[in-house]
Amino acid sequence: MSDKESKFAIAILAAGKGTRLKSKYPKVLHEIAGKPLLGHVVAAATQVVPASQIFAIIGHDAERVRQAMQSSGIQFVEQKEQRGTGHAIMQTRNALQGFDDVLVLSGDVPLIRKETIERVLEFHRQHGAAMTILTTEPDDPFGYGRVFRKKSGDHETDEVERIVEQKQLTSEQQGRREINSGIYAFRVKPLFANLDKITIDNPHGEYYLTDIAAILGKAREKVVALRAEDATEVLGVNTRHELALLDGYLRNKKCHELMSAGVSIFKPETCLIDADVEVGADTVIEPFVQLLGDTRIGGECRIRSYSVVTNSTLGNNVLLRHGSIVDQSKVADGALLGPYCHLRPGSDIGEAAHIGNFVETKKTKVGKGSKANHLTYLGDAEIGSGVNIGAGTITCNYDGVNKFGTVIGDNVFVGSDTTLVAPIKIGKGAYIGAASCVTENVPEDALAVARGRQVNKEGWAKRKREERKNK
Ligand code: UD1
Ligand code: CA
Repeated sequence: MSDKESKFAIAILAAGKGTRLKSKYPKVLHEIAGKPLLGHVVAAATQVVPASQIFAIIGHDAERVRQAMQSSGIQFVEQKEQRGTGHAIMQTRNALQGFDDVLVLSGDVPLIRKETIERVLEFHRQHGAAMTILTTEPDDPFGYGRVFRKKSGDHETDEVERIVEQKQLTSEQQGRREINSGIYAFRVKPLFANLDKITIDNPHGEYYLTDIAAILGKAREKVVALRAEDATEVLGVNTRHELALLDGYLRNKKCHELMSAGVSIFKPETCLIDADVEVGADTVIEPFVQLLGDTRIGGECRIRSYSVVTNSTLGNNVLLRHGSIVDQSKVADGALLGPYCHLRPGSDIGEAAHIGNFVETKKTKVGKGSKANHLTYLGDAEIGSGVNIGAGTITCNYDGVNKFGTVIGDNVFVGSDTTLVAPIKIGKGAYIGAASCVTENVPEDALAVARGRQVNKEGWAKRKREERKNK
């Protein structure tokens, strides 16, 4: 939507503490589908206006919220004391000068979509309203403010008389199902001309933004309500139960989107897939898999049960066997991982490489077709292509203070149970005898053996046993 016709801003209420979550962290930073509640709202808002026209009202633990949202480029307005939603909007008076309209979103109503924001604005403008309230009729309206419309004869109109908060409902009003979503459009002028008329005459002693509906009505300004098409979209998060409910909803939706795009997911209800994860067609995801954060997975991969992939990129045709943990790493086409491997940050696994059972890598590049199949630690290493890393190989990359690198050339064969004491370089095509403790560089195509020579003492064990028996 262009902002040419009239200039509008988006304000997001995000200063509250979220008492009902019983958390030491601000409510809007609690996550669903791997993203803070406020992050979801900001993502929808930035699809409608540039970040410079979005103002988050922050207060409780403002610094933490500001930091979490910094990268989005939105603006912040501080509400030092949290004295209610009306008081929060009072703080935006200066910031909103120069705008004709403001759309108010709630940091704890995270499923709101761009299309709905635009519908509210359109309805608001068509009616020339001073205030437009987005409403819905959930099965259980308990806890929400209720919207009471003006009547024309027997039927209800688009116009609103007042919003009544849960605690102030009379027993007669309890049955009202149409609730206030906490999402509104206002014309900036009448809003601020009347905002100071809100009082704290209510059970919480707070300035309720919802009181402005009746106040604007009295000032002969038009207040209208628009029903949301989908009640789920305007569900709020006030408790941990609602947090889990919305998280489940989003993850379920994500699985459905992926399946529609050609990804097989077995037992999707057991998988955790974050909102921004991408997966290519014909990839198969088995039960109890987690794909988190900024993760991209190619096509025709198989992700077996109990694998967890976080902020990583996997190519096509990658096989993650059971229990593979991949964190901030890259895996190229056709690679084969696990079972039970751990790719720590900065691992870069080449095409068709194998990282097998109980192998841990960190800041390590493994070249095309190289294999480390069993019980190995590779840290700060650069490994060429066609390399075989024998079972139990360990890069000794840490002297207790500093980290050192290991470089292994193409086609090297590292025998089992080798320790490579870094910094160290193994030249191309070299061969390292099993159980070596390699402390010096190995030239290309050489054989390095660095272990004690074997001594066999004939009859020694038998004599020992007899000695013991005689004692
Ligand atoms: C509010 C509405 C209610 C509506 C519901 C929809 C009021 C008085 N009531 O109730 O009609 O049905 O949302 O979800 O507005 N906040 C601030 N500063 C404050 C207080 C709150 O920024 O001083 C923020 C909160 O962080 C939150 C939002 O405003 O993001 C809503 O506050 P909350 O206390 O959750 O209001 P509800 O009781 O849910
Ligand atoms: Ca709320």
